[in-house]
Amino acid sequence: MRILMTGGAGTLGSNLIDRYLPQGHEILVIDNFATGNKGNVPPMDGLQVIEGSVADKDLVDQAFASFKPELVINSAAAYKDPSDWQEDTATNVTGSIYVAKAALEHGVKRLINFQTALAYGRPDVVPIPVTHPNRPFTSYGISKLAGENFLMMSGLDVVSLRLANITGPRLAIGPIPTFYQRLKAGKGCFCSETVRDFLDLEDFLVLMDKVIDFDAPTGVFNVSTGEGKSIKDVFDAVVSYLGIELAEEVPVVPCGDDDVPAVVLDASETMKAFDWQPQYGFEETIQRVLQWYDRYGVTDVFSHLSKPIGHED
Ligand SMILES: NC(=O)c1ccc[n+]([C@@H]2O[C@H](COP(=O)([O-])OP(=O)(O)OC[C@H]3O[C@@H](n4cnc5c(N)ncnc54)[C@H](O)[C@@H]3O)[C@@H](O)[C@H]2O)c1
Repeated sequence: MRILMTGGAGTLGSNLIDRYLPQGHEILVIDNFATGNKGNVPPMDGLQVIEGSVADKDLVDQAFASFKPELVINSAAAYKDPSDWQEDTATNVTGSIYVAKAALEHGVKRLINFQTALAYGRPDVVPIPVTHPNRPFTSYGISKLAGENFLMMSGLDVVSLRLANITGPRLAIGPIPTFYQRLKAGKGCFCSETVRDFLDLEDFLVLMDKVIDFDAPTGVFNVSTGEGKSIKDVFDAVVSYLGIELAEEVPVVPCGDDDVPAVVLDASETMKAFDWQPQYGFEETIQRVLQWYDRYGVTDVFSHLSKPIGHED
């Protein structure tokens, strides 16, 4: 089928291209390369790439009119500067609106959106059920939730997947690549006192195969193993993988004001709806991505959180 993918040069988008292009699907990517990488979308049969922003209405309309997609995967997101509310809003809200309107006009059969767990804000309970109230408090979370709300009310067949930390090839954000790079360079690390959930990218892709089916359920779904792990657990797993003897204990710093102490998603409804079950446990998931870094290296490391004072380096 013809798949229009926003943000296709990013981590998730490029892994989806790697999966769907060899299956014979045609893919059109719209990406402004804000955090994505041109090297992720090299010239390939069946792949077209438009460099530009989803916040450019004419560009989006022309892309839909010429490509006539059947499926849209909305993976574009702005998050790299937490103080740039305008850019987050332009991409995550206005961009999602332009994509939804164009999808409606051109009879798109299904739209899949990726959502952050930050849409829930500071949860009342962990694991967080999909019915939990949404109380985002960051520019990224607020704008992503608004974008999702527009998509859900658009009348399109929409599946919005609220994602755990998807861990796999090209992951360049968060504690795993940061610890790997810093420890290998002999630099110091710190762990924030937080708990997160990690899902192997292969498990995510298996779910995506089910989600792109036009007859599959629609709605908002959590995607996770449901297993919470501390950032210190991640650090220990990286240290153990690299076989490093530490001279002193790694500092564990309190969770920052812009951070959430524990984010673990309850995906039980998703598992039932899509007859899906993650196959990889935490240790194996971490090892698999570290093996990938050994082969291919880590690219730029971004974070949507500010660093604690004293740990800016
Ligand atoms: N990877 C995860 O674990 C995770 C977790 C929660 C949510 N998500 C969501 O999944 C999606 C993909 O995330 P990712 O990890 O691949 O991030 P990413 O930064 O690698 O990919 C996002 C892509 O969007 C592009 N982009 C940004 N602004 C754009 C614009 N205005 N127009 C067109 N393209 C634009 C970037 O250049 C990048 O290629 C995002 O919507 C993100 O919010 C991802």
